[in-house]
Amino acid sequence: MTQGLVIAAYIVAALLFIFSLAGLSKQETAKIGNYCGISGMTIALIATIASDSVNGLGWIILAMVIGGSIGLYLAKKVEMTQMPELIAILHSFVGLTAVFVGINSFIDSSVVSSDMHFIHLIEVFLGIFIGAVTFTGSIVAYGKLSGKIKSAPLVLSHKNLLNIGALVVSLLLMIWFVQVESCLPLIAILIIALLFGWHLVASIGGADMPVVISMLNSYSGWAAAAAGFMLGNDLLIVTGALVGSSGAILSYIMCQAMNRSFISVIAGGFGNENISAVGDEAGEYKEVNADEVAELLKNASSVVITPGYGMAVAQAQYPVAEMIKKLRDQGIDVRFGIHPVAGRLPGHMNVLLAEAKVPYDIVLEMDEINDDFANTDIVLVIGANDTVNPAAKTDPNSPIAGMPVLEVWNAKDVIIFKRSMNTGYAGVQNPLFFNENSAMYFGDAKDSVDEIIKRL
Ligand code: TAP
Repeated sequence: MTQGLVIAAYIVAALLFIFSLAGLSKQETAKIGNYCGISGMTIALIATIASDSVNGLGWIILAMVIGGSIGLYLAKKVEMTQMPELIAILHSFVGLTAVFVGINSFIDSSVVSSDMHFIHLIEVFLGIFIGAVTFTGSIVAYGKLSGKIKSAPLVLSHKNLLNIGALVVSLLLMIWFVQVESCLPLIAILIIALLFGWHLVASIGGADMPVVISMLNSYSGWAAAAAGFMLGNDLLIVTGALVGSSGAILSYIMCQAMNRSFISVIAGGFGNENISAVGDEAGEYKEVNADEVAELLKNASSVVITPGYGMAVAQAQYPVAEMIKKLRDQGIDVRFGIHPVAGRLPGHMNVLLAEAKVPYDIVLEMDEINDDFANTDIVLVIGANDTVNPAAKTDPNSPIAGMPVLEVWNAKDVIIFKRSMNTGYAGVQNPLFFNENSAMYFGDAKDSVDEIIKRL
């Protein structure tokens, strides 16, 4: 394929990626957004492979078949609740790739003209740095999201000094590297960046993980852009910049939604040294059974359901949809209140409820429903915990302090569907469970809702 055709294909692909991002920003257009992304990537791959500069087509096809098969297998096998951890591990691959491309283009810098040599060295250095931070940061995120690493923040003494020190040493190493052009500063930056990435994400508490995922998404974009610079591939630069900037914008929006400081989160929890994890039970709680819950529901005129991660794990969205249909048939006003970070991925609850064909118009965002709890008879908290935790408003030392929450405690009665008194993802005990107007309904969310349906 001639260079002109390749460039034309790259422009089409870049436009399709932009349409893809635009499409993904709304639920109704998300599907078409995905198709644009797939088409753009297909065009990009074909143009790159068919370009004159590519050698070893056989190896590329072999790698694509192996990688594609693993991807297909994982995509079919993965549960919705495991999506964030899959995304985290995929980000780590982008980081690792940038590190390999950096090392490779340092060893083989024959493609670069001599007047670009200085810039090329900086590209290599930054590519390895960003790639390594993304790699270990994403691995820690994967560990935290899959429960293999504790979600509580790692609090090393002088952690901010350590982070700032790592950045200063990195800068000095870059100056040294461009002067001596040897492997030693590269190996040193690789080790520092790996440790820095690990520490940065390990220092962030469970409740802030949604921001970390989008932040790593952004980092992986910058790592890809850095690889694009090193390889002299314009499309990779454009794609990386799109992912990098959209991830940064998403992180910023999520920080605002969760009342978090953007700088604090990207700086590894800067300023969060005084938080205390509280996991012990506090006080006495009431327990109710299916008969009592069904009776309460039959006598209610307004019900709000606030679902969370537990509904996703139990796949309880289908019986929940059936239950609300029965309640609505009896003339009871039923609505849903959705917290922006309920579950484990943005829009998680909306996707589950849409799957179960719950009408969109009764699914309300947190801000739309929060003032209505005071006029609600019963709130059913189905598998949610951190997102309905009043400690976010009342305890300034809580890891979730300041995070906006669904103020369910203002309703007349609150029934909490979960299996035990265990804490939520942030590892914080929930004072809601011990309130006068709260009652625990223990059991797997799906079984519990099934029991209620039988009694309605
Ligand atoms: P969580 O705070 O994670 O609590 C979920 C609750 O569901 C747990 O307390 C658990 O209690 C219960 N549960 C688990 N399996 C269940 C089952 N089969 N049946 C019934 N209950 C079950 O949930 P949330 O309120 O949705 O909050 C989400 C948390 O995840 C936030 O801290 C958020 O920051 C974090 N996070 C969110 C995202 C995004 S983007 N949404 C990404 C990463 C992290 P039992 O064990 O006692 O049953």
